[in-house]
Amino acid sequence: MDFLANRVKRLKPYTAGEQPNEDDWVKLNTNENPFEPVQAVKDTLIWFSKNLQLLRKYPHPMGEPLRSAFATQWNLPPEDVLITNGSDEALSLICRTCLNEAEAAIYPNISYSLYSTLIQSVGGTVKKAPMRNYQNYPYGVDLEALENSNAKLVFLPNPNAITGEAISCKELIQTIQKSKKLWVIDEAYADFSTESISLIPYLSTLQNVIVTRTFSKSYSLAGLRIGALLTSNKTLMQALYAIKDSYNEDVVALYCGMAALEEQTEFQKRIQFVQKERTRLKQELQKLNFIVLDSEANFYLAAAPKQSGKEFYEWLKAQKILVRYFDHLEPFVRISIGNEAENNVLLKRAKEFISP
Ligand SMILES: Cc1ncc(COP(=O)(O)O)c(C=O)c1O
Repeated sequence: MDFLANRVKRLKPYTAGEQPNEDDWVKLNTNENPFEPVQAVKDTLIWFSKNLQLLRKYPHPMGEPLRSAFATQWNLPPEDVLITNGSDEALSLICRTCLNEAEAAIYPNISYSLYSTLIQSVGGTVKKAPMRNYQNYPYGVDLEALENSNAKLVFLPNPNAITGEAISCKELIQTIQKSKKLWVIDEAYADFSTESISLIPYLSTLQNVIVTRTFSKSYSLAGLRIGALLTSNKTLMQALYAIKDSYNEDVVALYCGMAALEEQTEFQKRIQFVQKERTRLKQELQKLNFIVLDSEANFYLAAAPKQSGKEFYEWLKAQKILVRYFDHLEPFVRISIGNEAENNVLLKRAKEFISP
């Protein structure tokens, strides 16, 4: 018997980064934050452990109290915010709400490949925009190619996933203002950018934009699955709320997310640490003749002077260091920024790799 929908049979599943069970790995492959969550999150978990009756009831269907806290932080009306179970849920909701069967959605060819799976999961047509030259490699986002397609929906991470390239608000807004498409700007890594590139402050003037955000990266909460979807387009938002599961985010995540937002001074300190390490790692690897592309995210692409990306990835793995290998990005591998000790181990091993 055949129980599967045709669109599901055609679907190419997303390959997630490796998550080893043992904790003796230096894990630089899935862009997690090197810091543990802030003290306010720990205090909230302790509070929950002493008030277990809070778990007895369903969580707030509109994601409170996190929704209001997030809205206040960004000076948005709470109605423009939808709290999701990680930003992946936000991306999935958008496909389910906006794409008809066979309608096209486009994203940059070098980018977050989950978009493809999500588009296919609702029977949509996947389009990939060609890239343009970026620091001598064909990895740059081409806004014109995205806009000139016949797709209804555009997914664009800013900074771009895999490469870390950031696009300025000005450039993005110029394209989006002229566009008839719905632009989904995935700001999973935007907090790590040196310049402020978020479109959130401009949302009230852009009716064809949805911004997605995550607490997985800059707030160190990948394990709790917290994301947000933001738009000032009321019709869209109403439909997105209608499609989402009634209780899509659990109560522990809603309170821990709110607690994470409280410690902004500590948050900024950690962002600055990642930015400083990003510069240091680039400089140190360049001294070893690695090619390192500029990044505004908490990861970077690096290529060894002579060896392939695959050789570097496998050699590091044999030393219990995990980075991310993508065969279409040869000779580069993607390396997440870890804590100082982890980054130093990586540098030490990179040095050994090129001069065994
Ligand atoms: C560009 C991009 N968007 C979204 C996500 C998923 O974020 P979340 O953990 O909030 O689902 C990732 C995760 O790696 C990502 O790289």
